[in-house]
Amino acid sequence: MTTTLGISAFFHDSAACLVRDGRIIAAAQEERFSRIKHDAGFPESAIRYCFDAAKISPGDLDHVVFYEKPIRKFDRLMESFLATAPRSLRPFTTAMPSWIKGKLNLRKTLRRRLDQVAGDGRRYGGKIHFVDHHLTHAASAAWTCPWPNAAVLVCDAVGEWATTSLGWSDGQQIQLTHQLRYPHSLGLLYSAFTYFCGFTVNSGEYKLMGLAAYGTPKYAQTIESKLLNIASDGSFRLNQEFFGFVDSLKMTNQRFADVFDQTPRRADEPITDFHRDLAASIQKVTEDILLRTAKHLHRLHAADVLCIAGGVALNGKANGRLMVETPFRKIYVPPAPGDAGGAVGAALLIDRASVNDAAVGDRAISQYSMQNACLGPVYDSQQSSQELRKIGASFRSLTDDALIDEVARRLANGQVVGWMDGPMEFGPRAVGRRSILADPRGEDVRDRMNKAIKFREPFRPFAPVVLADRVTEYFQVSGDFESPWMSFIVPVKAAAGIAPAIIHADGTARVQTLTRDQNPKLYRLIQRFDRLTGCPMLVNTSFNVKDEPIVASPVDAYRCFRKSGMDCCVIQNHLLDKRESC
Ligand SMILES: [Fe+2]
Repeated sequence: MTTTLGISAFFHDSAACLVRDGRIIAAAQEERFSRIKHDAGFPESAIRYCFDAAKISPGDLDHVVFYEKPIRKFDRLMESFLATAPRSLRPFTTAMPSWIKGKLNLRKTLRRRLDQVAGDGRRYGGKIHFVDHHLTHAASAAWTCPWPNAAVLVCDAVGEWATTSLGWSDGQQIQLTHQLRYPHSLGLLYSAFTYFCGFTVNSGEYKLMGLAAYGTPKYAQTIESKLLNIASDGSFRLNQEFFGFVDSLKMTNQRFADVFDQTPRRADEPITDFHRDLAASIQKVTEDILLRTAKHLHRLHAADVLCIAGGVALNGKANGRLMVETPFRKIYVPPAPGDAGGAVGAALLIDRASVNDAAVGDRAISQYSMQNACLGPVYDSQQSSQELRKIGASFRSLTDDALIDEVARRLANGQVVGWMDGPMEFGPRAVGRRSILADPRGEDVRDRMNKAIKFREPFRPFAPVVLADRVTEYFQVSGDFESPWMSFIVPVKAAAGIAPAIIHADGTARVQTLTRDQNPKLYRLIQRFDRLTGCPMLVNTSFNVKDEPIVASPVDAYRCFRKSGMDCCVIQNHLLDKRESC
């Protein structure tokens, strides 16, 4: 038996993943436990959870692996600083303390932190591995994908040096054959516009994508002609004259602002048509680059399936276009395509490297561990009721049938329902384990949810969770379309007019398809709702409020429920009503 712990940490979205003999046993992001959004620290709580789930301690591990190679990353930082000195003195002096303090000797840091987790128990005495960052992204997609032969596209801000990697996987090995290198980065380009429009880099990219639907891409030509130089194969060069991320602490500089004759928006300043149009423009440029890149990849490595990972794979609008405008017949995006997923990919890489060729085939079992991404902690009915009683919450405990009946009725009457059921999802999307659900039929549902439930910007869209066998009635997708993790934004059909809350300003929706196997209880709830209303879908948004991580425990869920405008909340089979429990 081989047990491997994968760790991603010290940049953003720290996470841990435990793999045993090819099967992903557990995976979780540190933010869910620490309650710090995008927590970048050592994922101690996530690691403890992984050990609890597998009933092991650090001394039982065979391998520990980190999701990038720090020395190569340091090499990139040094080369970039030297190439731009003395302008880059400030970013250099800002970055150095953390490298000197721990990142340069990460092996020692990781071992010390793992020893702390072991406490008085058996410590981990084996090797600490470091693997190529883009390879971890590639493995997190290709080796959790249900189809073994695939072309692989990795695209993020930057790994060690690579910013875009192209390659293939046959289910047993992965080869990344072509790459684009820093500073020419699609992820950093998108983040530069995220910054310029007044959103936080590395978390506000969703907001920029949501805003794009309200604008027209009138600056796309300007971006393509002045800020970058795109080749027909999708590779490009960023004109560094306009960007600040190499030689300053800002993403863009004065010359960038001069191109648009605007200053960067501060977070508290109003969003104007300029920002909407700029968002639409960079979204279009991003989609066009990805389309060219994917078409080129198909020429290099023809396959029916394209696996995508890296932070850029969270761009559902681009994924939707890749699905219909490239020769690939299937697009697979893992549930955590960003850096948290690097912990999964790293663990899978070392797990596979630890066995001989004959045994590699058995490792394919990991393909199915990701079917519903339910790799996080679960609190059963008894644990949940104990936790709720401890904090003095009032609730009623119901059978599944009674609960589904009552919740479907409440939803049909316009109530907004917190829904915590089963193991926590891995990845940034809540797909029905830690969700807030609502009736999508009301014209005012989106405004009410943004304002009173999530406390977030009015332009943010809401996604539908729809019964998989009914998806083609409402969305322009093929019959075999699957989107279990809301990875694709697709056009809606006229029939979706019954559910205005899930239609974005540009007539699209970020669809989650749901089969009975993926989540039987939620499937039955939507069926029941459909019988009451004739609408086989619900609004599904993550169980959190603005700037907070998605809830993990019953106590987190209760606190979030109390401070938001939700009407009632389900925690396992317990129903909490705002009027009774607050
Ligand atoms: Fe990455």
